[in-house]
Amino acid sequence: MRKMSKCENKIIVAIDGYSSCGKSTIAKALAKHAHATYVDTGAMYRAIALYVLVESRKSKVEKLSEEEIVALLPEINVGFVRVGDAQHVTLNGEDVEGQIRTLEVGNRASEISQIKEVRAFLVAQQQAMGANQSIVMDGRDIGTVVFPKADLKLFLTARPEVRAQRRYDELVAKGEKPVYEEVLADVNDRDYRDTHRAESPLRQAEDAIVVDNSDMTPDEQMKVIYDLYDRLQ
Ligand code: DC
Repeated sequence: MRKMSKCENKIIVAIDGYSSCGKSTIAKALAKHAHATYVDTGAMYRAIALYVLVESRKSKVEKLSEEEIVALLPEINVGFVRVGDAQHVTLNGEDVEGQIRTLEVGNRASEISQIKEVRAFLVAQQQAMGANQSIVMDGRDIGTVVFPKADLKLFLTARPEVRAQRRYDELVAKGEKPVYEEVLADVNDRDYRDTHRAESPLRQAEDAIVVDNSDMTPDEQMKVIYDLYDRLQ
């Protein structure tokens, strides 16, 4: 990993890992600590998945083909907007944050993220976001593909049962009525797809630091991560 020199003022932190590892919570907190911009790349894949879902409903087909999805890309504009302290993803200018955090959109995002052209479309935008500012970016391929020269690379993991419980609790808090066994099966399916796809599969970069937070409290985990970041300076 590159040691940041004191005179450099731009820093890139790449956070990768499995779904429901708390990546976004950690990335948000670290971005605040580092006075950097937070970028949730999963939200970008979810926004495209939402667009594809709406289009497939309009066409009254269950699923669009890969070619049809690729053909839609020029009409899709994904961005971010600040809402108070939070950052919301936008789809063609509309704040869609409230619509993308469902199991259905998550699963569809996992599917469309296997398409090479979809990845190239988003990776280019993600790299541009890091060109002129400090960022903390989370996703699946940030340390391996988007920013292979990131100043700090973290790879987050936790046991599948722990992650399923966290996702279950989140869904309950949103008023949904999930079944734990289904949520666990979904976590395992998604892990399988994310790690076995041909295009940029989720894998740990050689120079990434692994953080398994299964048995850590949120405070313990953030202490470990802030320490790693502070050691860069
Ligand atoms: O992190 P998340 O659950 O919001 O991501 C949704 C899906 O998007 C995930 O199953 C895989 C995909 N994804 C990806 O392929 N590459 C990224 N950098 C981020 C997400």
